[in-house]
Amino acid sequence: MKHKNMRLITLSLGAVAALVLSGCSATNDSGDEALTIAFLMPESNTTRYEAFDKPLFEAAIEELAPGSKVLYSNANGDPTLQQSQLESVLAQGPDVVVLNAADSVQGEGLVDTANSAGVPVISYDRLIDNENVGYYVSFDNPQVGVLQAQTLVDHLTEQGVTTGDLLMVNGAPTDPNAAQYKEGAHKVIDGTDFTIVGEFDTPNWAAADAQQWVEGQLGTIDRDSLIGVYAGNDSTASGVVAALIGAGISPVPPVTGQDAELEAVQRIVAGTQYMTVYKSIKQQATDAAEAAVALARGDEPKSSSETNGIPTTLLTPVALTAENISDTVIADGVYTAEEICTAELTSACAELALK
Ligand code: GAL
Repeated sequence: MKHKNMRLITLSLGAVAALVLSGCSATNDSGDEALTIAFLMPESNTTRYEAFDKPLFEAAIEELAPGSKVLYSNANGDPTLQQSQLESVLAQGPDVVVLNAADSVQGEGLVDTANSAGVPVISYDRLIDNENVGYYVSFDNPQVGVLQAQTLVDHLTEQGVTTGDLLMVNGAPTDPNAAQYKEGAHKVIDGTDFTIVGEFDTPNWAAADAQQWVEGQLGTIDRDSLIGVYAGNDSTASGVVAALIGAGISPVPPVTGQDAELEAVQRIVAGTQYMTVYKSIKQQATDAAEAAVALARGDEPKSSSETNGIPTTLLTPVALTAENISDTVIADGVYTAEEICTAELTSACAELALK
């Protein structure tokens, strides 16, 4: 174990009691010890954590270590709440904490808190830059930004649009991924003749803040020159699209996104959002579950690279437009065509041959 033994002296009484309890934990049918694993997610403006990460992680743990318990909490974007959620799960003696930090800087301290209680930490999706993190799983995040911007730029170029104004609605300043998306997107856009006329970091990725900022911009920029909007994810994209439609801008210029949320895929079918980035949360949650079980059993998790000394796995994101809905989210069983194709999307779905 990397952390110093001295730290163990700082164990709270609750954590000691919990460790004693976990020492007596049950075994499953195959004789393996049933585990207790904390799964702490950062916010709920984005639907992925509750709709996919949580159930997929729980299912993977049940498969790998039947009878194990997953302690789930969502910090709703509040780092102080996440700190108390961590303290409360530590009091229940988890074998591993899987942490997606609401605030990456504060997350560095949370890793020390967990390690002090003898509990290893997996950094989930957002990097926590603390060398005592046991494992990190995410996507190639700069590549997410490249895909967003390149898909937008290629689309505009195909339409014969090579100059004009763009707005950039980035993600949360507390999320290191948002900086990487932004960096990847800039790499593409800065090499074109398009002009970024306004750029915003959206607190906590909230749709309402993205909407309000775009509404403000539409009051000052030349609307006729606006040829597209970079939005960092589908939550911010929903605010952007609401602002554009609310201002009577029609047709809605191409807007990017990320996460392949159901409503975003429906906007893509309807033509009010141009693209999203599909990241297989099943792959990510399963990978994290395998690493969690390995760490809990004292084994090394499988990894393919290192990030600042932390064993790492980075998964591959895919650009999703109206052209490949069937080959991505439908083929992978994320959504059925019936779920996507509501009554008002019937004819658009038929045109795309979604079934
Ligand atoms: C990022 C994550 C995205 C998006 C966003 C908002 O860190 O990679 O998938 O959901 O946070 O939570």
